[in-house]
Amino acid sequence: MKILLLGSGGREHALAWKISQSAKCEKLYIAPGNAGTAGVGENVPVKADDFEAIKIFVLRNRIQMVVVGPEDPLVKGIYDFFRNDPELREISVIGPSKAGAMLEGSKDFAKGFMQRHGIPTARYQTFDGEHLAEGLTFLKTLEPPYVLKADGLCAGKGVLILPTLEEAKEELEKMLGGMFGSASSRVVIEEFLSGIECSVFVLTDGKDYKILPEAKDYKRIGEGDTGLNTGGMGSVSPVPFATKEWMKKVEDRIIRPTVEGLKAEGIDYKGFIFFGLINAKRTTDDGQCTMEPMVIEYNVRMGDPETETVMLRLKSDLVDLFEGVATGTLAQRNIEFDDRSAVCVMLVSGGYPGSYQKGYPISLPQSSIQGGRDTLFFHAGTAFALGTSSRERQFVTNGGRVIAVSSYGADKAEALQKSFTEAQKIQFQDKYFRRDIGADL
Ligand code: AMP
Ligand code: GLY
Repeated sequence: MKILLLGSGGREHALAWKISQSAKCEKLYIAPGNAGTAGVGENVPVKADDFEAIKIFVLRNRIQMVVVGPEDPLVKGIYDFFRNDPELREISVIGPSKAGAMLEGSKDFAKGFMQRHGIPTARYQTFDGEHLAEGLTFLKTLEPPYVLKADGLCAGKGVLILPTLEEAKEELEKMLGGMFGSASSRVVIEEFLSGIECSVFVLTDGKDYKILPEAKDYKRIGEGDTGLNTGGMGSVSPVPFATKEWMKKVEDRIIRPTVEGLKAEGIDYKGFIFFGLINAKRTTDDGQCTMEPMVIEYNVRMGDPETETVMLRLKSDLVDLFEGVATGTLAQRNIEFDDRSAVCVMLVSGGYPGSYQKGYPISLPQSSIQGGRDTLFFHAGTAFALGTSSRERQFVTNGGRVIAVSSYGADKAEALQKSFTEAQKIQFQDKYFRRDIGADL
């Protein structure tokens, strides 16, 4: 099969690495890809959300399956674009319809969906600019800290957590006043949940689902979870508190009701669902304290940098699973996990997530794109230096997150030790990484 993967981050390099190992993959293209994906497939200079250019490429190269990495093309309706075009109709798209992508594209839609299907999540209300006063009244009914979420996509910046009522009121006014443009013309105000987060992923064909290995990611720039939020500084899989019993609760209360809810609402969904969960402290009616899985958010794609560990732990053929998704035969496909631990340590540019320089030469411990038998380098923000080709492989930094150093280990400690050792060997100016990935678990 000829496959086109859309996207250009570490997630896409990890997906490309896995797809390229399938006997069912005859040829893999990545649009636009990065310097790392060029090592496992062929990069094409097409943007992931340029539907017309994608159409031309797909028809010219007889692509049979399109795998969508990031959320943007999904929220813009790439699935529907293919389904509604007679020339593209037969081509499989791994990713939900525009209606399904609303689970990520609109926080208010996601909250309403959870409410309709009895899926545990924080108490909330949504307000627009006409209802600021009601929003302020609702804030007063909550305990600090206060959680404000822009309804629309904000490249991961749309959630504010404010320690005082005063700050929450101020920020609510700013958000409704256009702080994130039209994305914050509506704001979800919700109860703060305290607990540890865990990312759970499924693939669904709209009827059945397969649960992938879970992972935990580390969002803050500083050690000890301090400082600004980033796109993700590392991840580990498995997550110790995601025991069989806990995962059964997740499946019964969250995963199954979500897939059945989508079906009941007539929403066409063939792709990944990413459940951003929190193991939240709850007090029962009789005053007992328990820890229960609750949904913080849905995403309609894989997580980054979770994919850089989850793909290591997936033993099965990913293209076979994708075929199951596309043809509605997922129930007949096999899914197996690797029992080893996997971790990912993200190397970032100095200054990230604020401003940083690009174009610094990267020296890898060996000329290969892979770190060795047990360590893989997944490129995120890299490019080939001007004047060099993919054969010469002179990499330069080209983004905030630069390279994900992913390792296997008999346990988490061994995997971390391998990733940290390799992370030290990779050199570029102002390189930074967190040395405490996985230390809290
Ligand atoms: P989101 O963009 O929805 O993933 O939110 C970003 C981050 O904000 C999450 O990963 C959580 O760490 C935090 N967050 C969001 N909603 C809540 C909540 N209701 N309670 C506590 N933390 C939250
Ligand atoms: N790692 C969180 C995300 O991909 O949104």
